[in-house]
Amino acid sequence: MSTGPVASVSGLRSRIGETVTLRGWLYNRRDSGKIRFLVFRDGSGYVQCVVVKKEVPEEVWTESDRLTQESSFEVTGVVREAPRQEGGVEVGVTGLTVLSVCHDWPITPKEHGVDFLMSQRHLWLRSAKQVAILRVRSEVESAIHDFYHSRGYTRVDSPILTPNACEGTSNLFETQYTEEEKAYLSQSGQLYLEPAAAALGKVYCFGPTFRAEKSKTRRHLREFWMVEPEVAFLEIDGLKALAEEFVKELTARVLDRRKEDLKRLERDTTTLEATVAKPFPRIDYREAIEILATKGFPVKFGDDLGGDEETALTEGFDTPVMVTRYPAAIKSFYMQPDPEDPEVVLGLDMLAPEGYGEIIGGSQRIHDHDLLLSRIRQHELPVEAFQWYLDVRKYGSFPHSGFGMGLERFTAWMCGVPHLRECIPYPRMLYRIYP
Ligand code: 4AD
Ligand code: MG
Repeated sequence: MSTGPVASVSGLRSRIGETVTLRGWLYNRRDSGKIRFLVFRDGSGYVQCVVVKKEVPEEVWTESDRLTQESSFEVTGVVREAPRQEGGVEVGVTGLTVLSVCHDWPITPKEHGVDFLMSQRHLWLRSAKQVAILRVRSEVESAIHDFYHSRGYTRVDSPILTPNACEGTSNLFETQYTEEEKAYLSQSGQLYLEPAAAALGKVYCFGPTFRAEKSKTRRHLREFWMVEPEVAFLEIDGLKALAEEFVKELTARVLDRRKEDLKRLERDTTTLEATVAKPFPRIDYREAIEILATKGFPVKFGDDLGGDEETALTEGFDTPVMVTRYPAAIKSFYMQPDPEDPEVVLGLDMLAPEGYGEIIGGSQRIHDHDLLLSRIRQHELPVEAFQWYLDVRKYGSFPHSGFGMGLERFTAWMCGVPHLRECIPYPRMLYRIYP
């Protein structure tokens, strides 16, 4: 291996005419007599490296012949303009060293079943589509932090081991905390953010979240990442505005900075562009029921909206749709009742277009101590475990609101990938925890 500086593919455009050294893997190769075309990748991009037999020393020609798909190698050559190539450049090879020959790469171009690919996830990550998805995901993650930091929020990390449930008890992951005591993996950081909002005003958390989902669906993971803002003195209308501004800004960032990846994913960006440009429709649950009735769904007040209903509701819209004022009975214990219609609560769901379903769930929180206490009792939750949470309403109570957005749901929609399992590096699903 050389000891000089190593270039990256993403930086080659500004180095035309220079001799560079790259290190990475062979993505693809095509031989045509005395010319060999090597598609090289280093994680930052792909570039065609051209080896011409009569222009390189004999050993470079024979060395390049050892390259198989996914072999690692170092290549030196001159960067030149190539308008028909991705990135507009290619490399005219002058030197090449194979670092490790790859034998029997398991993922060949033939069609593999998803189960097989999932069992090879550690290798499947190298494929162009998976690389593009992971880059979009990473862009969204940094856009999330930028969104909140630029608006004066403080990041407050909520705990992962918790003594009680936040989002119902049916999908809790239980662990043995001490010999006597159990703990649960966090289903949401919300309960811990509410006291922090009283300390810092505007806060957010962003971390892994766990739900022991008991069925296999394309929209559910058992471990996923959720970003949750929580804001003191924010009420439901302000929450809707925040959610809309947030989704618009993240989408604009993906469109702006991940163009190449969206292209590789062959993503039709119509809904993403509309999302940035147009206001999101806002409907109440009662209206949603009526709309669904006209579409042949026999839902009545009090029914939960499933995936099919969500998809039907967003049909005809090219932006997300915000649904509010759900029946109290189908929502979490902490949601504030609507003073004008106490049967419903000021909960907010944002449904993505194209059948991607609920990307955001949130609400205004109950800030009256006695009302919250009665809801905890109604839901048969252990009051002692929630004393600290009730304290937020005891010592200087304040209206407040927040929401949670699932990173994988959002990334799936951005990428146009229907199943969440491809939107997290190592998915944890029912019956799948390897690798
Ligand atoms: O609607 P959820 O359950 O809301 C909460 O957890 C609130 N405590 C959040 C808050 O107000 N701070 O979950 C929020 C979002 C959903 O809209 C969805 O995007 C995602 O989290 N989500 C999942 N993503 C992947 N797999 C799962 N099993 C998910 N469950 C929820
Ligand atoms: Mg929800």
